[in-house]
Amino acid sequence: MDYHELINKAEQTHKLAGSEIVALLKNEEYQEELAQAADRVRHVFVGDEVHLRGLIEFSNICKQNCLYCGLRRDNKKVERYRLSEAEILDFAAKAKSYGYKTVVMQSGEDMHFSVDILSRVLRKIKKMDLAITLSIGEKTYEEYKAYKEAGADRYLIRIETTDRELYEALNPGMSFENRLRCLSDLKRLGYEVGTGSLVGLPNQPIESLARDLLFFQEIDADMVGIGPFIPNGDTPLHNAKGGSFLLARSFVALLRLLLPEANIPATTAMETLDRNARIIALQSGANVVMPNVTEGDYRRKYALYPGKICISDTPAHCRGCISGKIMAIGRKISEHKGFRCHANSNKV
Ligand code: 5AD
Ligand code: SF4
Ligand code: FES
Repeated sequence: MDYHELINKAEQTHKLAGSEIVALLKNEEYQEELAQAADRVRHVFVGDEVHLRGLIEFSNICKQNCLYCGLRRDNKKVERYRLSEAEILDFAAKAKSYGYKTVVMQSGEDMHFSVDILSRVLRKIKKMDLAITLSIGEKTYEEYKAYKEAGADRYLIRIETTDRELYEALNPGMSFENRLRCLSDLKRLGYEVGTGSLVGLPNQPIESLARDLLFFQEIDADMVGIGPFIPNGDTPLHNAKGGSFLLARSFVALLRLLLPEANIPATTAMETLDRNARIIALQSGANVVMPNVTEGDYRRKYALYPGKICISDTPAHCRGCISGKIMAIGRKISEHKGFRCHANSNKV
């Protein structure tokens, strides 16, 4: 196989066959070249601006029991918390004061937050002139509709893996079909939709990751966030091997090549495995970072996986830290809300 030709084809046409994706994911020798091609495509399609999204982890209570996740309901070791409405609004106002244009409101599937409660919070945040991304799991069409009407602009819900059997083995009581239904309802309601997968799950061959990439392309995802699976000692997968930073990085590069207009974050899980990972990801196709704006001990308690970065840092410190790193590689901090761009479709 001529890898150079393959990367060239991906850069020019943004199309690859599954077997070609597999070949590129497996090849370490051409990883640099792959990342450089993705970096060029990123520059052409979404430019040099990096969008910062302020992340509010507002509840770590979850009714689901995903085998890989520290917030699963059977994990008795995690100290549960739920922010009050006033705390959420305070963190959103602070996010605004740090210059963030978007807040990402993330939680476990916490049934306390009814449509009424959350819609009221969303309406108040909307008045601060912030874009709002929700990341609160599987809901009904009517619930998604109510949140959209209350001001939510975007929604993140990872497919986690497109392997139906693996999905249902790892997410007991959840159905792959319903996950797909969520994604299609969200699209239909006019949200910008973000999805993504875990890289390096047990029984997830490279072929399966290639199918994930083709799936993101097929549904024309507006945002795709991926990260390595990091085994959590307090979950049933404590002895699993986990994903590698290098594979996650190649995955990010291929995402950019195949979905040139998408917003792609450099994720915290990647940085857990390599202390410079977010910057490397930003130079391999990514264009978004999601600094945490949750304060105090909540950061540590929102423990999806061990080794989470920034758990002892303040939001203000993270703001300065990440901005400095971004500027040091010659990129700019965006001053816009950073919606998915469509203007460059003619470049495909
Ligand atoms: N390692 C890495 N990412 C994880 N997530 C949950 N558990 C882990 C883990 N052990 C991710 C899931 C979920 C997101 C909020 O966090 O992909 O969608
Ligand atoms: Fe809950 Fe999400 Fe963790 Fe699953 S991955 S246990 S739904 S917080
Ligand atoms: Fe939190 Fe660097 S982004 S310390």
